[in-house]
Amino acid sequence: MHAPAGVRGGEGDGRRVKWDRQFRISGVRSASGSTPLRFKDKPMFRSECYVARRQRLLATAPKGLLLFLGQTDAPMNYPHNPYPFVQDASFRYFFGLNEPGLAGLIDTEAGEAVLFGTDPSVDDIVWTGPQPTLAERGERVGIRSTADYATLADRLAEAGRSGRAVHYLAPYRGETVLELARLLGCSPEAVRQGSSAPLTRAVVALREIKGEEEIAEMEDALAVTREMHIAAMKSAHAGVVEYEVVGIMEGIMRRRDLQLAYPSIFSRRGEVLHNHGHDQVMQLGDLVVNDTGVTSAGGYASDITRTIPVGGRFSVEQRALYDTVLAMQLAAIEAIRPGVRYLDVHKLAARVMVEAMKPMGFFHGDTDAIVESGAYAIAFPHGLGHQIGMDVHDMEGLGEDLVGYDDSVTRSPLFGLGYLRLGKALKAGMVLTVEPGIYFIPTLIEAWQGEGRFADYIDYETFQQYRDFGGIRIEDNVLVTEDGHRVLGEPIPKTAEDIEALMQA
Ligand code: GLY
Ligand code: MN
Ligand code: MN
Repeated sequence: MHAPAGVRGGEGDGRRVKWDRQFRISGVRSASGSTPLRFKDKPMFRSECYVARRQRLLATAPKGLLLFLGQTDAPMNYPHNPYPFVQDASFRYFFGLNEPGLAGLIDTEAGEAVLFGTDPSVDDIVWTGPQPTLAERGERVGIRSTADYATLADRLAEAGRSGRAVHYLAPYRGETVLELARLLGCSPEAVRQGSSAPLTRAVVALREIKGEEEIAEMEDALAVTREMHIAAMKSAHAGVVEYEVVGIMEGIMRRRDLQLAYPSIFSRRGEVLHNHGHDQVMQLGDLVVNDTGVTSAGGYASDITRTIPVGGRFSVEQRALYDTVLAMQLAAIEAIRPGVRYLDVHKLAARVMVEAMKPMGFFHGDTDAIVESGAYAIAFPHGLGHQIGMDVHDMEGLGEDLVGYDDSVTRSPLFGLGYLRLGKALKAGMVLTVEPGIYFIPTLIEAWQGEGRFADYIDYETFQQYRDFGGIRIEDNVLVTEDGHRVLGEPIPKTAEDIEALMQA
């Protein structure tokens, strides 16, 4: 039921292109016959998958040379002490390889892809152990033509002399800007101005429709994320410091050699939307927002939020607002189907919130007016969700508006709705987060009250009574199917009853 959109067109059609077991179990033998360390246990899809993706890109991309730079290692404090390596998602999508120092070039006229990199020297191998050759790397992703990285600049200059366009995606790391400037012989400023909108549109159109093999990866990430959230529910006791619970969650993930998909939020001050501090002692009666997700071995993110009561029982006030957020989320999920604009799903969630909060005394007046004016955002100041895939905010580095909006839906200038990252109509195969919340942000309440903003709609006295309440968010990852939607992963306790039962067990 609700089968995800398969890989469209090409050889991958309708087939599950899961890991090639050969890559996973035995590694790949290098020319010297020893097992190269960096390919062993480096899972990737079969080469046909990457060939098919590049073929589909050729059908819609602008003419010329399409340049995809992989990431280099990012130093923490000196070059040989890097952060955990994270590949550029567009490079990995089309070229599969999860190692630093590579670039891919697609010549649209010749219909050929070239992989640029460096063969390991004996000196390299002394430090890293045996490595696959560049040709072996190319073979893994269906590329016969490889070249030394040092020749890439000449190849691009030659293209420039014959009047051919070089298209690249917007870079988001300083190193990539400088490398593109060197390769293209222009200034960093020109690099930033010069990314290709037509290539971006072609890449977004492919990456935003997930294939079956990608959904399987996201569900792998969700299975571990689920374990982490359940462990957090079981260990969020009064007197425990937040980082102790964060450590328990991260241990579950690290035992599987996985990394976080983004810095965790685990905080009793959930009204601070991007609160990455974990140093507070949890108190009986606190609500803790836990927004934690991991990246699967194949590089796909999960992004899950649960809000849990320290002590295992919601108070009457917490319960009323928790059930409101849950009603917002369930109504939003129910509305998801192809053709529906996510902007309208966001507004639906806001209406559900206002309708529930009016009898509690927070808002007065006409619900539609409260939503359309933006007054509701005093309690729900962020967007309902975003696309998710290899990046947790999928493709956001390519330009949020190019990914989340189009000619028919433009971003709202209103506070709150303006933070919505995805407003356009949904398509089968997209995966999105649905993450409504209610927050009491003292600074925001003070500021709006001080200027009398939306005074006809907002009951500031009631908001003031809740100024120490904190925040609530509930977030799941949802696939848009041909006939509706499917919440990905095994369910993670979400109703107040289920969370209380688990915490008290
Ligand atoms: N975890 C980041 C977000 O929910 O968007
Ligand atoms: Mn999240
Ligand atoms: Mn999210």
